Amino acid sequence: MSELRHYMLRQQLQAELELAHKAEAAGKDKESGEHYVKAGALARKIAYSAPREHSEEFFHSAGQYESKGNVIKTTEGKDRAESDEMIDKLVVTQKPATKWEDIGGLDDAKHALREAIIMPFVGGKPDFVRTTKSILLYGPPGTGKTLLAKASSNTLSATFFEAKASGLLSKYFGESSKIISSLFQKAAEKQPSLIFLDEIDSLAPSRSGDINESSRRVLGEILEGMDGFSASKEDKVIFIGATNKPWDLDDALLSRFQRKVYVPLPDEESRKSIFTIHLKGAQLRLNINDLVKRSVGYSGRDIAALCQHAISSMVKEQNPELEDLTSKQLETYMLKTRELLPSDFDGAFEKIKPASDAKSLEKYSDWADEFG
Ligand SMILES: Nc1ncnc2c1ncn2[C@@H]1O[C@H](COP(=O)(O)OP(=O)(O)OP(=O)(O)O)[C@@H](O)[C@H]1O
Ligand SMILES: [Mg+2]
Repeated sequence: MSELRHYMLRQQLQAELELAHKAEAAGKDKESGEHYVKAGALARKIAYSAPREHSEEFFHSAGQYESKGNVIKTTEGKDRAESDEMIDKLVVTQKPATKWEDIGGLDDAKHALREAIIMPFVGGKPDFVRTTKSILLYGPPGTGKTLLAKASSNTLSATFFEAKASGLLSKYFGESSKIISSLFQKAAEKQPSLIFLDEIDSLAPSRSGDINESSRRVLGEILEGMDGFSASKEDKVIFIGATNKPWDLDDALLSRFQRKVYVPLPDEESRKSIFTIHLKGAQLRLNINDLVKRSVGYSGRDIAALCQHAISSMVKEQNPELEDLTSKQLETYMLKTRELLPSDFDGAFEKIKPASDAKSLEKYSDWADEFG
């Protein structure tokens, strides 16, 4: 680092500290805490580049500023209430309705999950039986990762905490590390519980990537949270992370997942059961095997979309007057339907193309070979 940059950073650090003291003196805890945390980040930056004899000292101060900042921020009553409120928004307290039989194929993944999630709930088990508490689901988009997490939670009648990482980061940027720590805390209070963190790659990008201070803190909280409940034999908290970019995950995070479960694109047999699930109740004058053959490379989500598309074009054809009805008329209207024909799927296959290409699929299997 150049002398000049070093000098600038020290100036900024000085300024942040002054703001922090001033806010603290004025009783503005939240503001003060934020300045301390910023000061901590600056001190850390300086520490990384300072000559050896000084870096230790800056690391030390960085830790102090950061923890002081975090303490001040969280002890302020209003602030804590805010993050509680955010958690409430994230928590899906009603039991997810998804059942294992709603998920086509994925037998290996289902077995792995069922085995893993049941074990912590077995009352009498000898000490040498290790239980799996953290599971990473990875695979191409739309293959059933979220469904699997929901079915797991359903099986356990657990409180289901679901957070979509990207939303968390964008909506509550800066607050997210606090939310994560409260999330783990709440999950422990309300156990048995299952924390499902979707799109985990966006919260915990690999260290090689350009990771900012906020993401670093978030990652730290996740690691700490995971260590917390995996260490305890009694805790009935399961953590499921899902990603379709496993190669973007931080190594420290990756190594903490006890199981990594690949959720692949469906093969023929699985596509058949997925079509059957999504056409349930409809009358068919077609051979599902033909649909299976036409849908090589399609994900479960693509197949669900194909079925919806075919059904709605049949419904439109049978009820051309539907759009012109008043809401009063709609209430008493009996929808006309007919058997589904292969031709109903023509438009659907035309419109909906597989989301994953061969090249990106190779990336998954390569990754699975190395880390899975
Ligand atoms: N194996 C499956 N069986 C039945 N339906 C499926 C299956 N996989 C996907 N679907 C359908 O696709 C939708 C999306 O699936 P899901 O949300 O589980 O995908 P995902 O793997 O979490 O995708 P993403 O990586 O984009 O988050 C489901 O709501 C369901 O309708
Ligand atoms: Mg998902």
